[in-house]
Amino acid sequence: MVNTMKVLITGSIGLLGHKLVSHCLEDGLEVYPTDLSPPPPSEIISGVEFLKLDVTDLQSILSIFKTLKPDAVINAAAMTNVDQCEVEKEAAWKVNVEGARNVAEACSKLGAHMIHLSTSYVFDGEKGLYDEEDEPNPLGYYGVTKLKGEEAIRTATSNWCIARTDVIFGWGRTDRPNFAQWVIINLEKKQSVKIVNDQYNSPTLNTNLAEMVVDVAKHRIQGILNTAGSTRINRFDFARKISKVFHLDEKYIEPVSSAEFTWKAKRPKDASISVSKAKKILSHKPLSIDDALKTMKKERTPYQTR
Ligand SMILES: NC(=O)c1ccc[n+]([C@@H]2O[C@H](COP(=O)([O-])OP(=O)(O)OC[C@H]3O[C@@H](n4cnc5c(N)ncnc54)[C@H](OP(=O)(O)O)[C@@H]3O)[C@@H](O)[C@H]2O)c1
Repeated sequence: MVNTMKVLITGSIGLLGHKLVSHCLEDGLEVYPTDLSPPPPSEIISGVEFLKLDVTDLQSILSIFKTLKPDAVINAAAMTNVDQCEVEKEAAWKVNVEGARNVAEACSKLGAHMIHLSTSYVFDGEKGLYDEEDEPNPLGYYGVTKLKGEEAIRTATSNWCIARTDVIFGWGRTDRPNFAQWVIINLEKKQSVKIVNDQYNSPTLNTNLAEMVVDVAKHRIQGILNTAGSTRINRFDFARKISKVFHLDEKYIEPVSSAEFTWKAKRPKDASISVSKAKKILSHKPLSIDDALKTMKKERTPYQTR
């Protein structure tokens, strides 16, 4: 008899987390979604038990892991709002560093492979197209906590993969729209948006990222791996591509310099990452921005949500 792989997911109702859950199910894996709050009623999947789990609570993690004995744990739980992290430093540290360490310690004790989501914001953005060997040097506190989280994991367990990604987009919660959703919402209402043309990223579709991360779990990949979209692009050009694919009027998109904005947290100028390694070793390949946006269009539901 073949044993089905058991995958536990933290942060399972987030922008990436809910796609991880559906992709694991499509792949025939046994999935255990966990988060601080349960999924909305429309997303409850029959036969899949949701568990409440706070990654800052080591005893709860240990108790759940002992019961479920997952083969792999994908840690998608995090405090992800970069400006909030800059202001609420203690809370950001607790989730992004201590939470990551707790999950790693429990994985180590129970012999599970830990796959942790990290970010290209661990870099200062002076170079761009960072590869797995480049030296991190975060600009903002979010990046600091994500880097310290990576280090805590590497100390706590020997069986880990750190999957770094950048600007996740796709259908997600409407109360917290991501960049692509926000552009679509505004352009559909014919409202003007000011978008910076001097910040570069590797935007990553949540469904494509979920496929790549589940590949990592299935093949028990170790070490650091960049898992992002394959196109380096600035925010303004990204917004124009969104308008084209969704047949919206790009005259409402105004290019501006980042000097016009006063954010609480500093952003790297070029946080794009190289996905050469992922292209070689994963079965699901990083999508170009054009293919990712076409996929997002196909995935649209009548309610413009998930
Ligand atoms: N979004 C991006 O553009 C981006 C870019 C690079 C890397 N990443 C990384 O990718 C991962 C997934 O990001 P995402 O965009 O899917 O994030 P997200 O939508 O903010 O989801 C994160 C989830 O984690 C939950 N969470 C927060 N604190 C928790 C705790 N103490 N215990 C358990 N769950 C907790 C959140 O719940 P609440 O909503 O209730 O707080 C949320 O459901 C994160 O590690 C993030 O750092 C994201």
